[in-house]
Amino acid sequence: MGNESTIRIESERAIDRVALSALLIGAFEGAAEARLVDELRRQAALTLSLVARVDGQLVGYVALSPVTLEPNVGGLRGVGLAPLAVLSAQRKRGLGARLVEAALARARALGFDFAVVLGDPAYYGRLGFTRADTRGLACVFSAPPGAFQVLELRAGALDGARGLVRYHRAFDVFA
Ligand SMILES: CC(C)(COP(=O)(O)OP(=O)(O)OC[C@H]1O[C@@H](n2cnc3c(N)ncnc32)[C@H](O)[C@@H]1OP(=O)(O)O)[C@@H](O)C(=O)NCCC(=O)NCCS
Repeated sequence: MGNESTIRIESERAIDRVALSALLIGAFEGAAEARLVDELRRQAALTLSLVARVDGQLVGYVALSPVTLEPNVGGLRGVGLAPLAVLSAQRKRGLGARLVEAALARARALGFDFAVVLGDPAYYGRLGFTRADTRGLACVFSAPPGAFQVLELRAGALDGARGLVRYHRAFDVFA
């Protein structure tokens, strides 16, 4: 990215909502993810809602919402990362990675133990996620092998943890 561009990653503001919906509809070629974010917001389930701005223009987005682990012997607190989107004209410049890293750092600071994501391992593997099934964690959604991934936000947090991870009920539209 050129030195002249100013990149900011910060919490969503009310004034961003129209541009954010348009970004999500464009990135996912449909309205499901925009509706998901609206529903998470309505249910006060957006643990984090971060936008990326380049020279003031909203060009990227990431959300975190709470997930549950069943059983949860250790009382672990987890978040699910979704959706993640970057405006097509601004891709391959590291904005997606910066959004994910900013979200994970904030989740760590908030005391969460782990983060999960459903997505391409080639993308999320570079950001530190690993296959959740190798750690004994399953997801309620059917997904390609390896797509359900996890990252410890606290070293050793998932030692001995096994079980079923459930996203917030707003995600049921994808079931
Ligand atoms: C996925 C997405 C957020 C990445 O944004 P980005 O700002 O381009 O990400 P980065 O710059 O950090 O990384 C870009 C790299 O990831 C790769 N990449 C992008 N999507 C990928 C995918 N689904 N699988 C594997 N690699 C992917 C790019 O090819 C690029 O590789 P390069 O660095 O070798 O050129 C963006 O492509 C997007 O909004 N896609 C549509 C929505 C989507 O699929 N979201 C993810 C849902 S899980």
